Amino acid sequence: MRLAPSLKNWVSLAGATIALITIFMIVFLFAVTLILERQGAYVGLVVYILLPAVMIVGLLLIPLGMFLRKRRDSKAGICAMPGWPRIDLGDPQQRKASLLFVIATTIFLFASAFGSYHAFEYTESVSFCGSLCHIAMEPEKVAHQNSAHARVRCVECHVGPGVDWYVRSKLSGMYQLYAVTMDIFPRPIPTPIAHLRPARQVCEQCHWPQKFYAQQYQVRTHYLQDEENTRWDIGLAVKIGSPERGIGYRSGIHWHVNPHIQIEYVAADEKRQSLPWVRYTNLDTGEVKVYQDEENPMTPEDVDKAETRTMDCLDCHNRPSHRYQSPNEFLNLAMTSGDVPTDLPEFKATATQLCDKDYQTTEEANAAIRQGLTELYRDNYPRIYAERLPEVEKSIAVVQAAFSRNIFPAMKASWKVYPDHIGHLESNGCFRCHNGQHRTEEGEVISDDCNVCHVIVRQGSPGAEEVAKATESLDFRHPVDIDEEWKEVACAECHQEASP
Ligand code: HEC
Ligand code: HEC
Ligand code: HEC
Ligand code: HEC
Ligand code: HEC
Ligand code: HEC
Repeated sequence: MRLAPSLKNWVSLAGATIALITIFMIVFLFAVTLILERQGAYVGLVVYILLPAVMIVGLLLIPLGMFLRKRRDSKAGICAMPGWPRIDLGDPQQRKASLLFVIATTIFLFASAFGSYHAFEYTESVSFCGSLCHIAMEPEKVAHQNSAHARVRCVECHVGPGVDWYVRSKLSGMYQLYAVTMDIFPRPIPTPIAHLRPARQVCEQCHWPQKFYAQQYQVRTHYLQDEENTRWDIGLAVKIGSPERGIGYRSGIHWHVNPHIQIEYVAADEKRQSLPWVRYTNLDTGEVKVYQDEENPMTPEDVDKAETRTMDCLDCHNRPSHRYQSPNEFLNLAMTSGDVPTDLPEFKATATQLCDKDYQTTEEANAAIRQGLTELYRDNYPRIYAERLPEVEKSIAVVQAAFSRNIFPAMKASWKVYPDHIGHLESNGCFRCHNGQHRTEEGEVISDDCNVCHVIVRQGSPGAEEVAKATESLDFRHPVDIDEEWKEVACAECHQEASP
């Protein structure tokens, strides 16, 4: 078999060589990943994206070379092959060549279909999203692995099904890859994310609002920042509530996503922390109520200019997968689970303060946590230091591990940067609207009654606990004496600091 004369040029030859080498590399690397049954983030990028791209460039060089060669030849007056090549299947040599061409093309098409499917799968995987941009996505990946959604892939929330969202996300993904390569990405990554898929579509793939429980009993165990790490339990019956009950029927927290109503708001800041204007519409009866923050009112012109958002799942569940716990919370959990003994004096207070400092790196934080806690017991409690050093050592390791799961100095990601809107203790959350200041002109208020969202059924230190009688609720008692201040000041005013 002879090659077409126009193929004999350096560009085409180089293209063919490149294509052959990359095909060989793809097959080889693919076989290796199959045999090792393990796939690192980078191998996927190379096998399914980089090498095929190089291969295609190689393949494109072949006709380009032929074209250039022909043009040069015809300029020089050499007529290598006038017009279109003629295929004569009667000629056994040409028949063989055509057969070979058809088989090769078929194999190539199948391989590229297979390859692009894998490229698609690969760019949808957690390892692509979470590991490839290692530093940038570290906080989200770690938090995701520790969340209820650890088995839900990043793309199921961030992209979801449908071609248009796929294309949109891949386009913005390309910019992100560039930003990471050039190291020009922001730290911390700003939220709220402007182009997240509409939340209800995303979440309702798996959570049917009809399936919510009416109430959920939750027990919170706290350890105070005093010498004894005094334990304080709070039992709450949270009125989660099904939203799917008749027109305007009030049925607890998920009433906001009741399909018969709509709640819209205007945010006064990027982070949606201040929501001075809220509108309720009953979609069945057409009833409308506008609530305005009386301390912070907006003029009608400002409202017209501003973007109104319809409230959805993410206005409360803004951290379904990347929830960064505060030192107070992760230390409470470490002590409740028994990983840290609760009778090491001043442990909670000291560990909280150490975790709350600004560090440049996790290593620096680890060293400071070790030093601070070691000094505490060596200098102030020599007996404990002498007798219980292994326990102290183990507790230090637990605190360091909890720190590195929740606070990420390299990306400046933490509970302070990414507050959780569920609740109202460490950030204003529900109290952004339910603060008793949002009124209609008729004087109706978005309720801040302590029993609207939950009832307290038990509170206090073990042994001296108050327990509510059935169907009754307790009046909140603040764990330390702050007078009646919790009635006047929002909890987060004090509790957004690690040590209030
Ligand atoms: C259960 C749904 C869900 C999953 C799964 C999920 N995310 Fe998110 N992600 C969100 C939501 C919701 C936000 C916050 C949006 C906002 O505040 O605007 C977010 C925010 C982010 C942010 C912005 C910074 C931040 O911490 O808030 C990044 C980056 C991110 N996700 C990356 C990832 C990566 C990487 C994965 C997989 C390892 C992942 N996400 C998995 C729902 C999800
Ligand atoms: C692909 C399915 C899937 C999607 C999409 C999904 N979830 Fe979930 N979610 C689950 C599963 C499964 C659980 C239960 C995990 C468990 O019990 O440990 C869960 C648990 C939860 C919980 C209770 C546990 C917790 O973290 O407190 C909440 C709240 C929640 N999801 C909210 C959301 C929100 C909001 C979204 C949309 C951003 C969402 N989910 C999207 C599957 C999903
Ligand atoms: C007004 C705020 C708010 C809105 C809006 C909201 N939720 Fe919730 N949701 C809560 C609170 C509060 C809880 C209970 C507290 C907790 O997470 O422990 C909860 C609990 C849940 C749970 C766990 C329930 C269980 O039985 O364990 C799921 C799942 C959930 N929400 C999904 C959704 C989805 C999906 C949407 C959107 C269609 C949504 N939520 C809208 C506030 C809200
Ligand atoms: C964007 C403003 C906004 C936010 C944020 C918000 N709500 Fe509401 N909520 C409203 C409005 C408006 C009403 C209707 C007025 C009322 O009944 O007080 C309402 C009513 C309620 C009701 C009463 C429903 C009933 O059964 O009577 C509950 C419970 C509730 N919200 C819980 C929550 C919880 C819990 C959060 C935080 C996770 C929250 N809300 C966050 C605006 C908001
Ligand atoms: C608009 C709804 C709403 C109102 C009003 C409300 N809470 Fe809550 N509260 C919540 C939610 C939601 C949580 C968090 C439940 C969760 O995290 O799952 C919570 C949590 C708590 C907790 C437990 C905190 C913890 O971490 O242990 C206490 C205590 C509490 N609330 C007291 C009060 C008091 C006192 C008032 C009245 C001043 C009040 N709440 C008003 C919605 C509300
Ligand atoms: C004037 C400031 C202030 C206000 C307002 C306030 N607290 Fe506190 N709170 C404190 C102080 C100080 C402590 C003691 C810190 C410690 O020992 O952990 C504390 C401790 C707590 C604890 C134990 C925390 C832990 O794990 O150590 C809970 C729970 C709590 N407060 C709930 C609330 C709730 C709910 C509200 C709002 C209804 C509220 N607080 C309002 C100052 C305040």
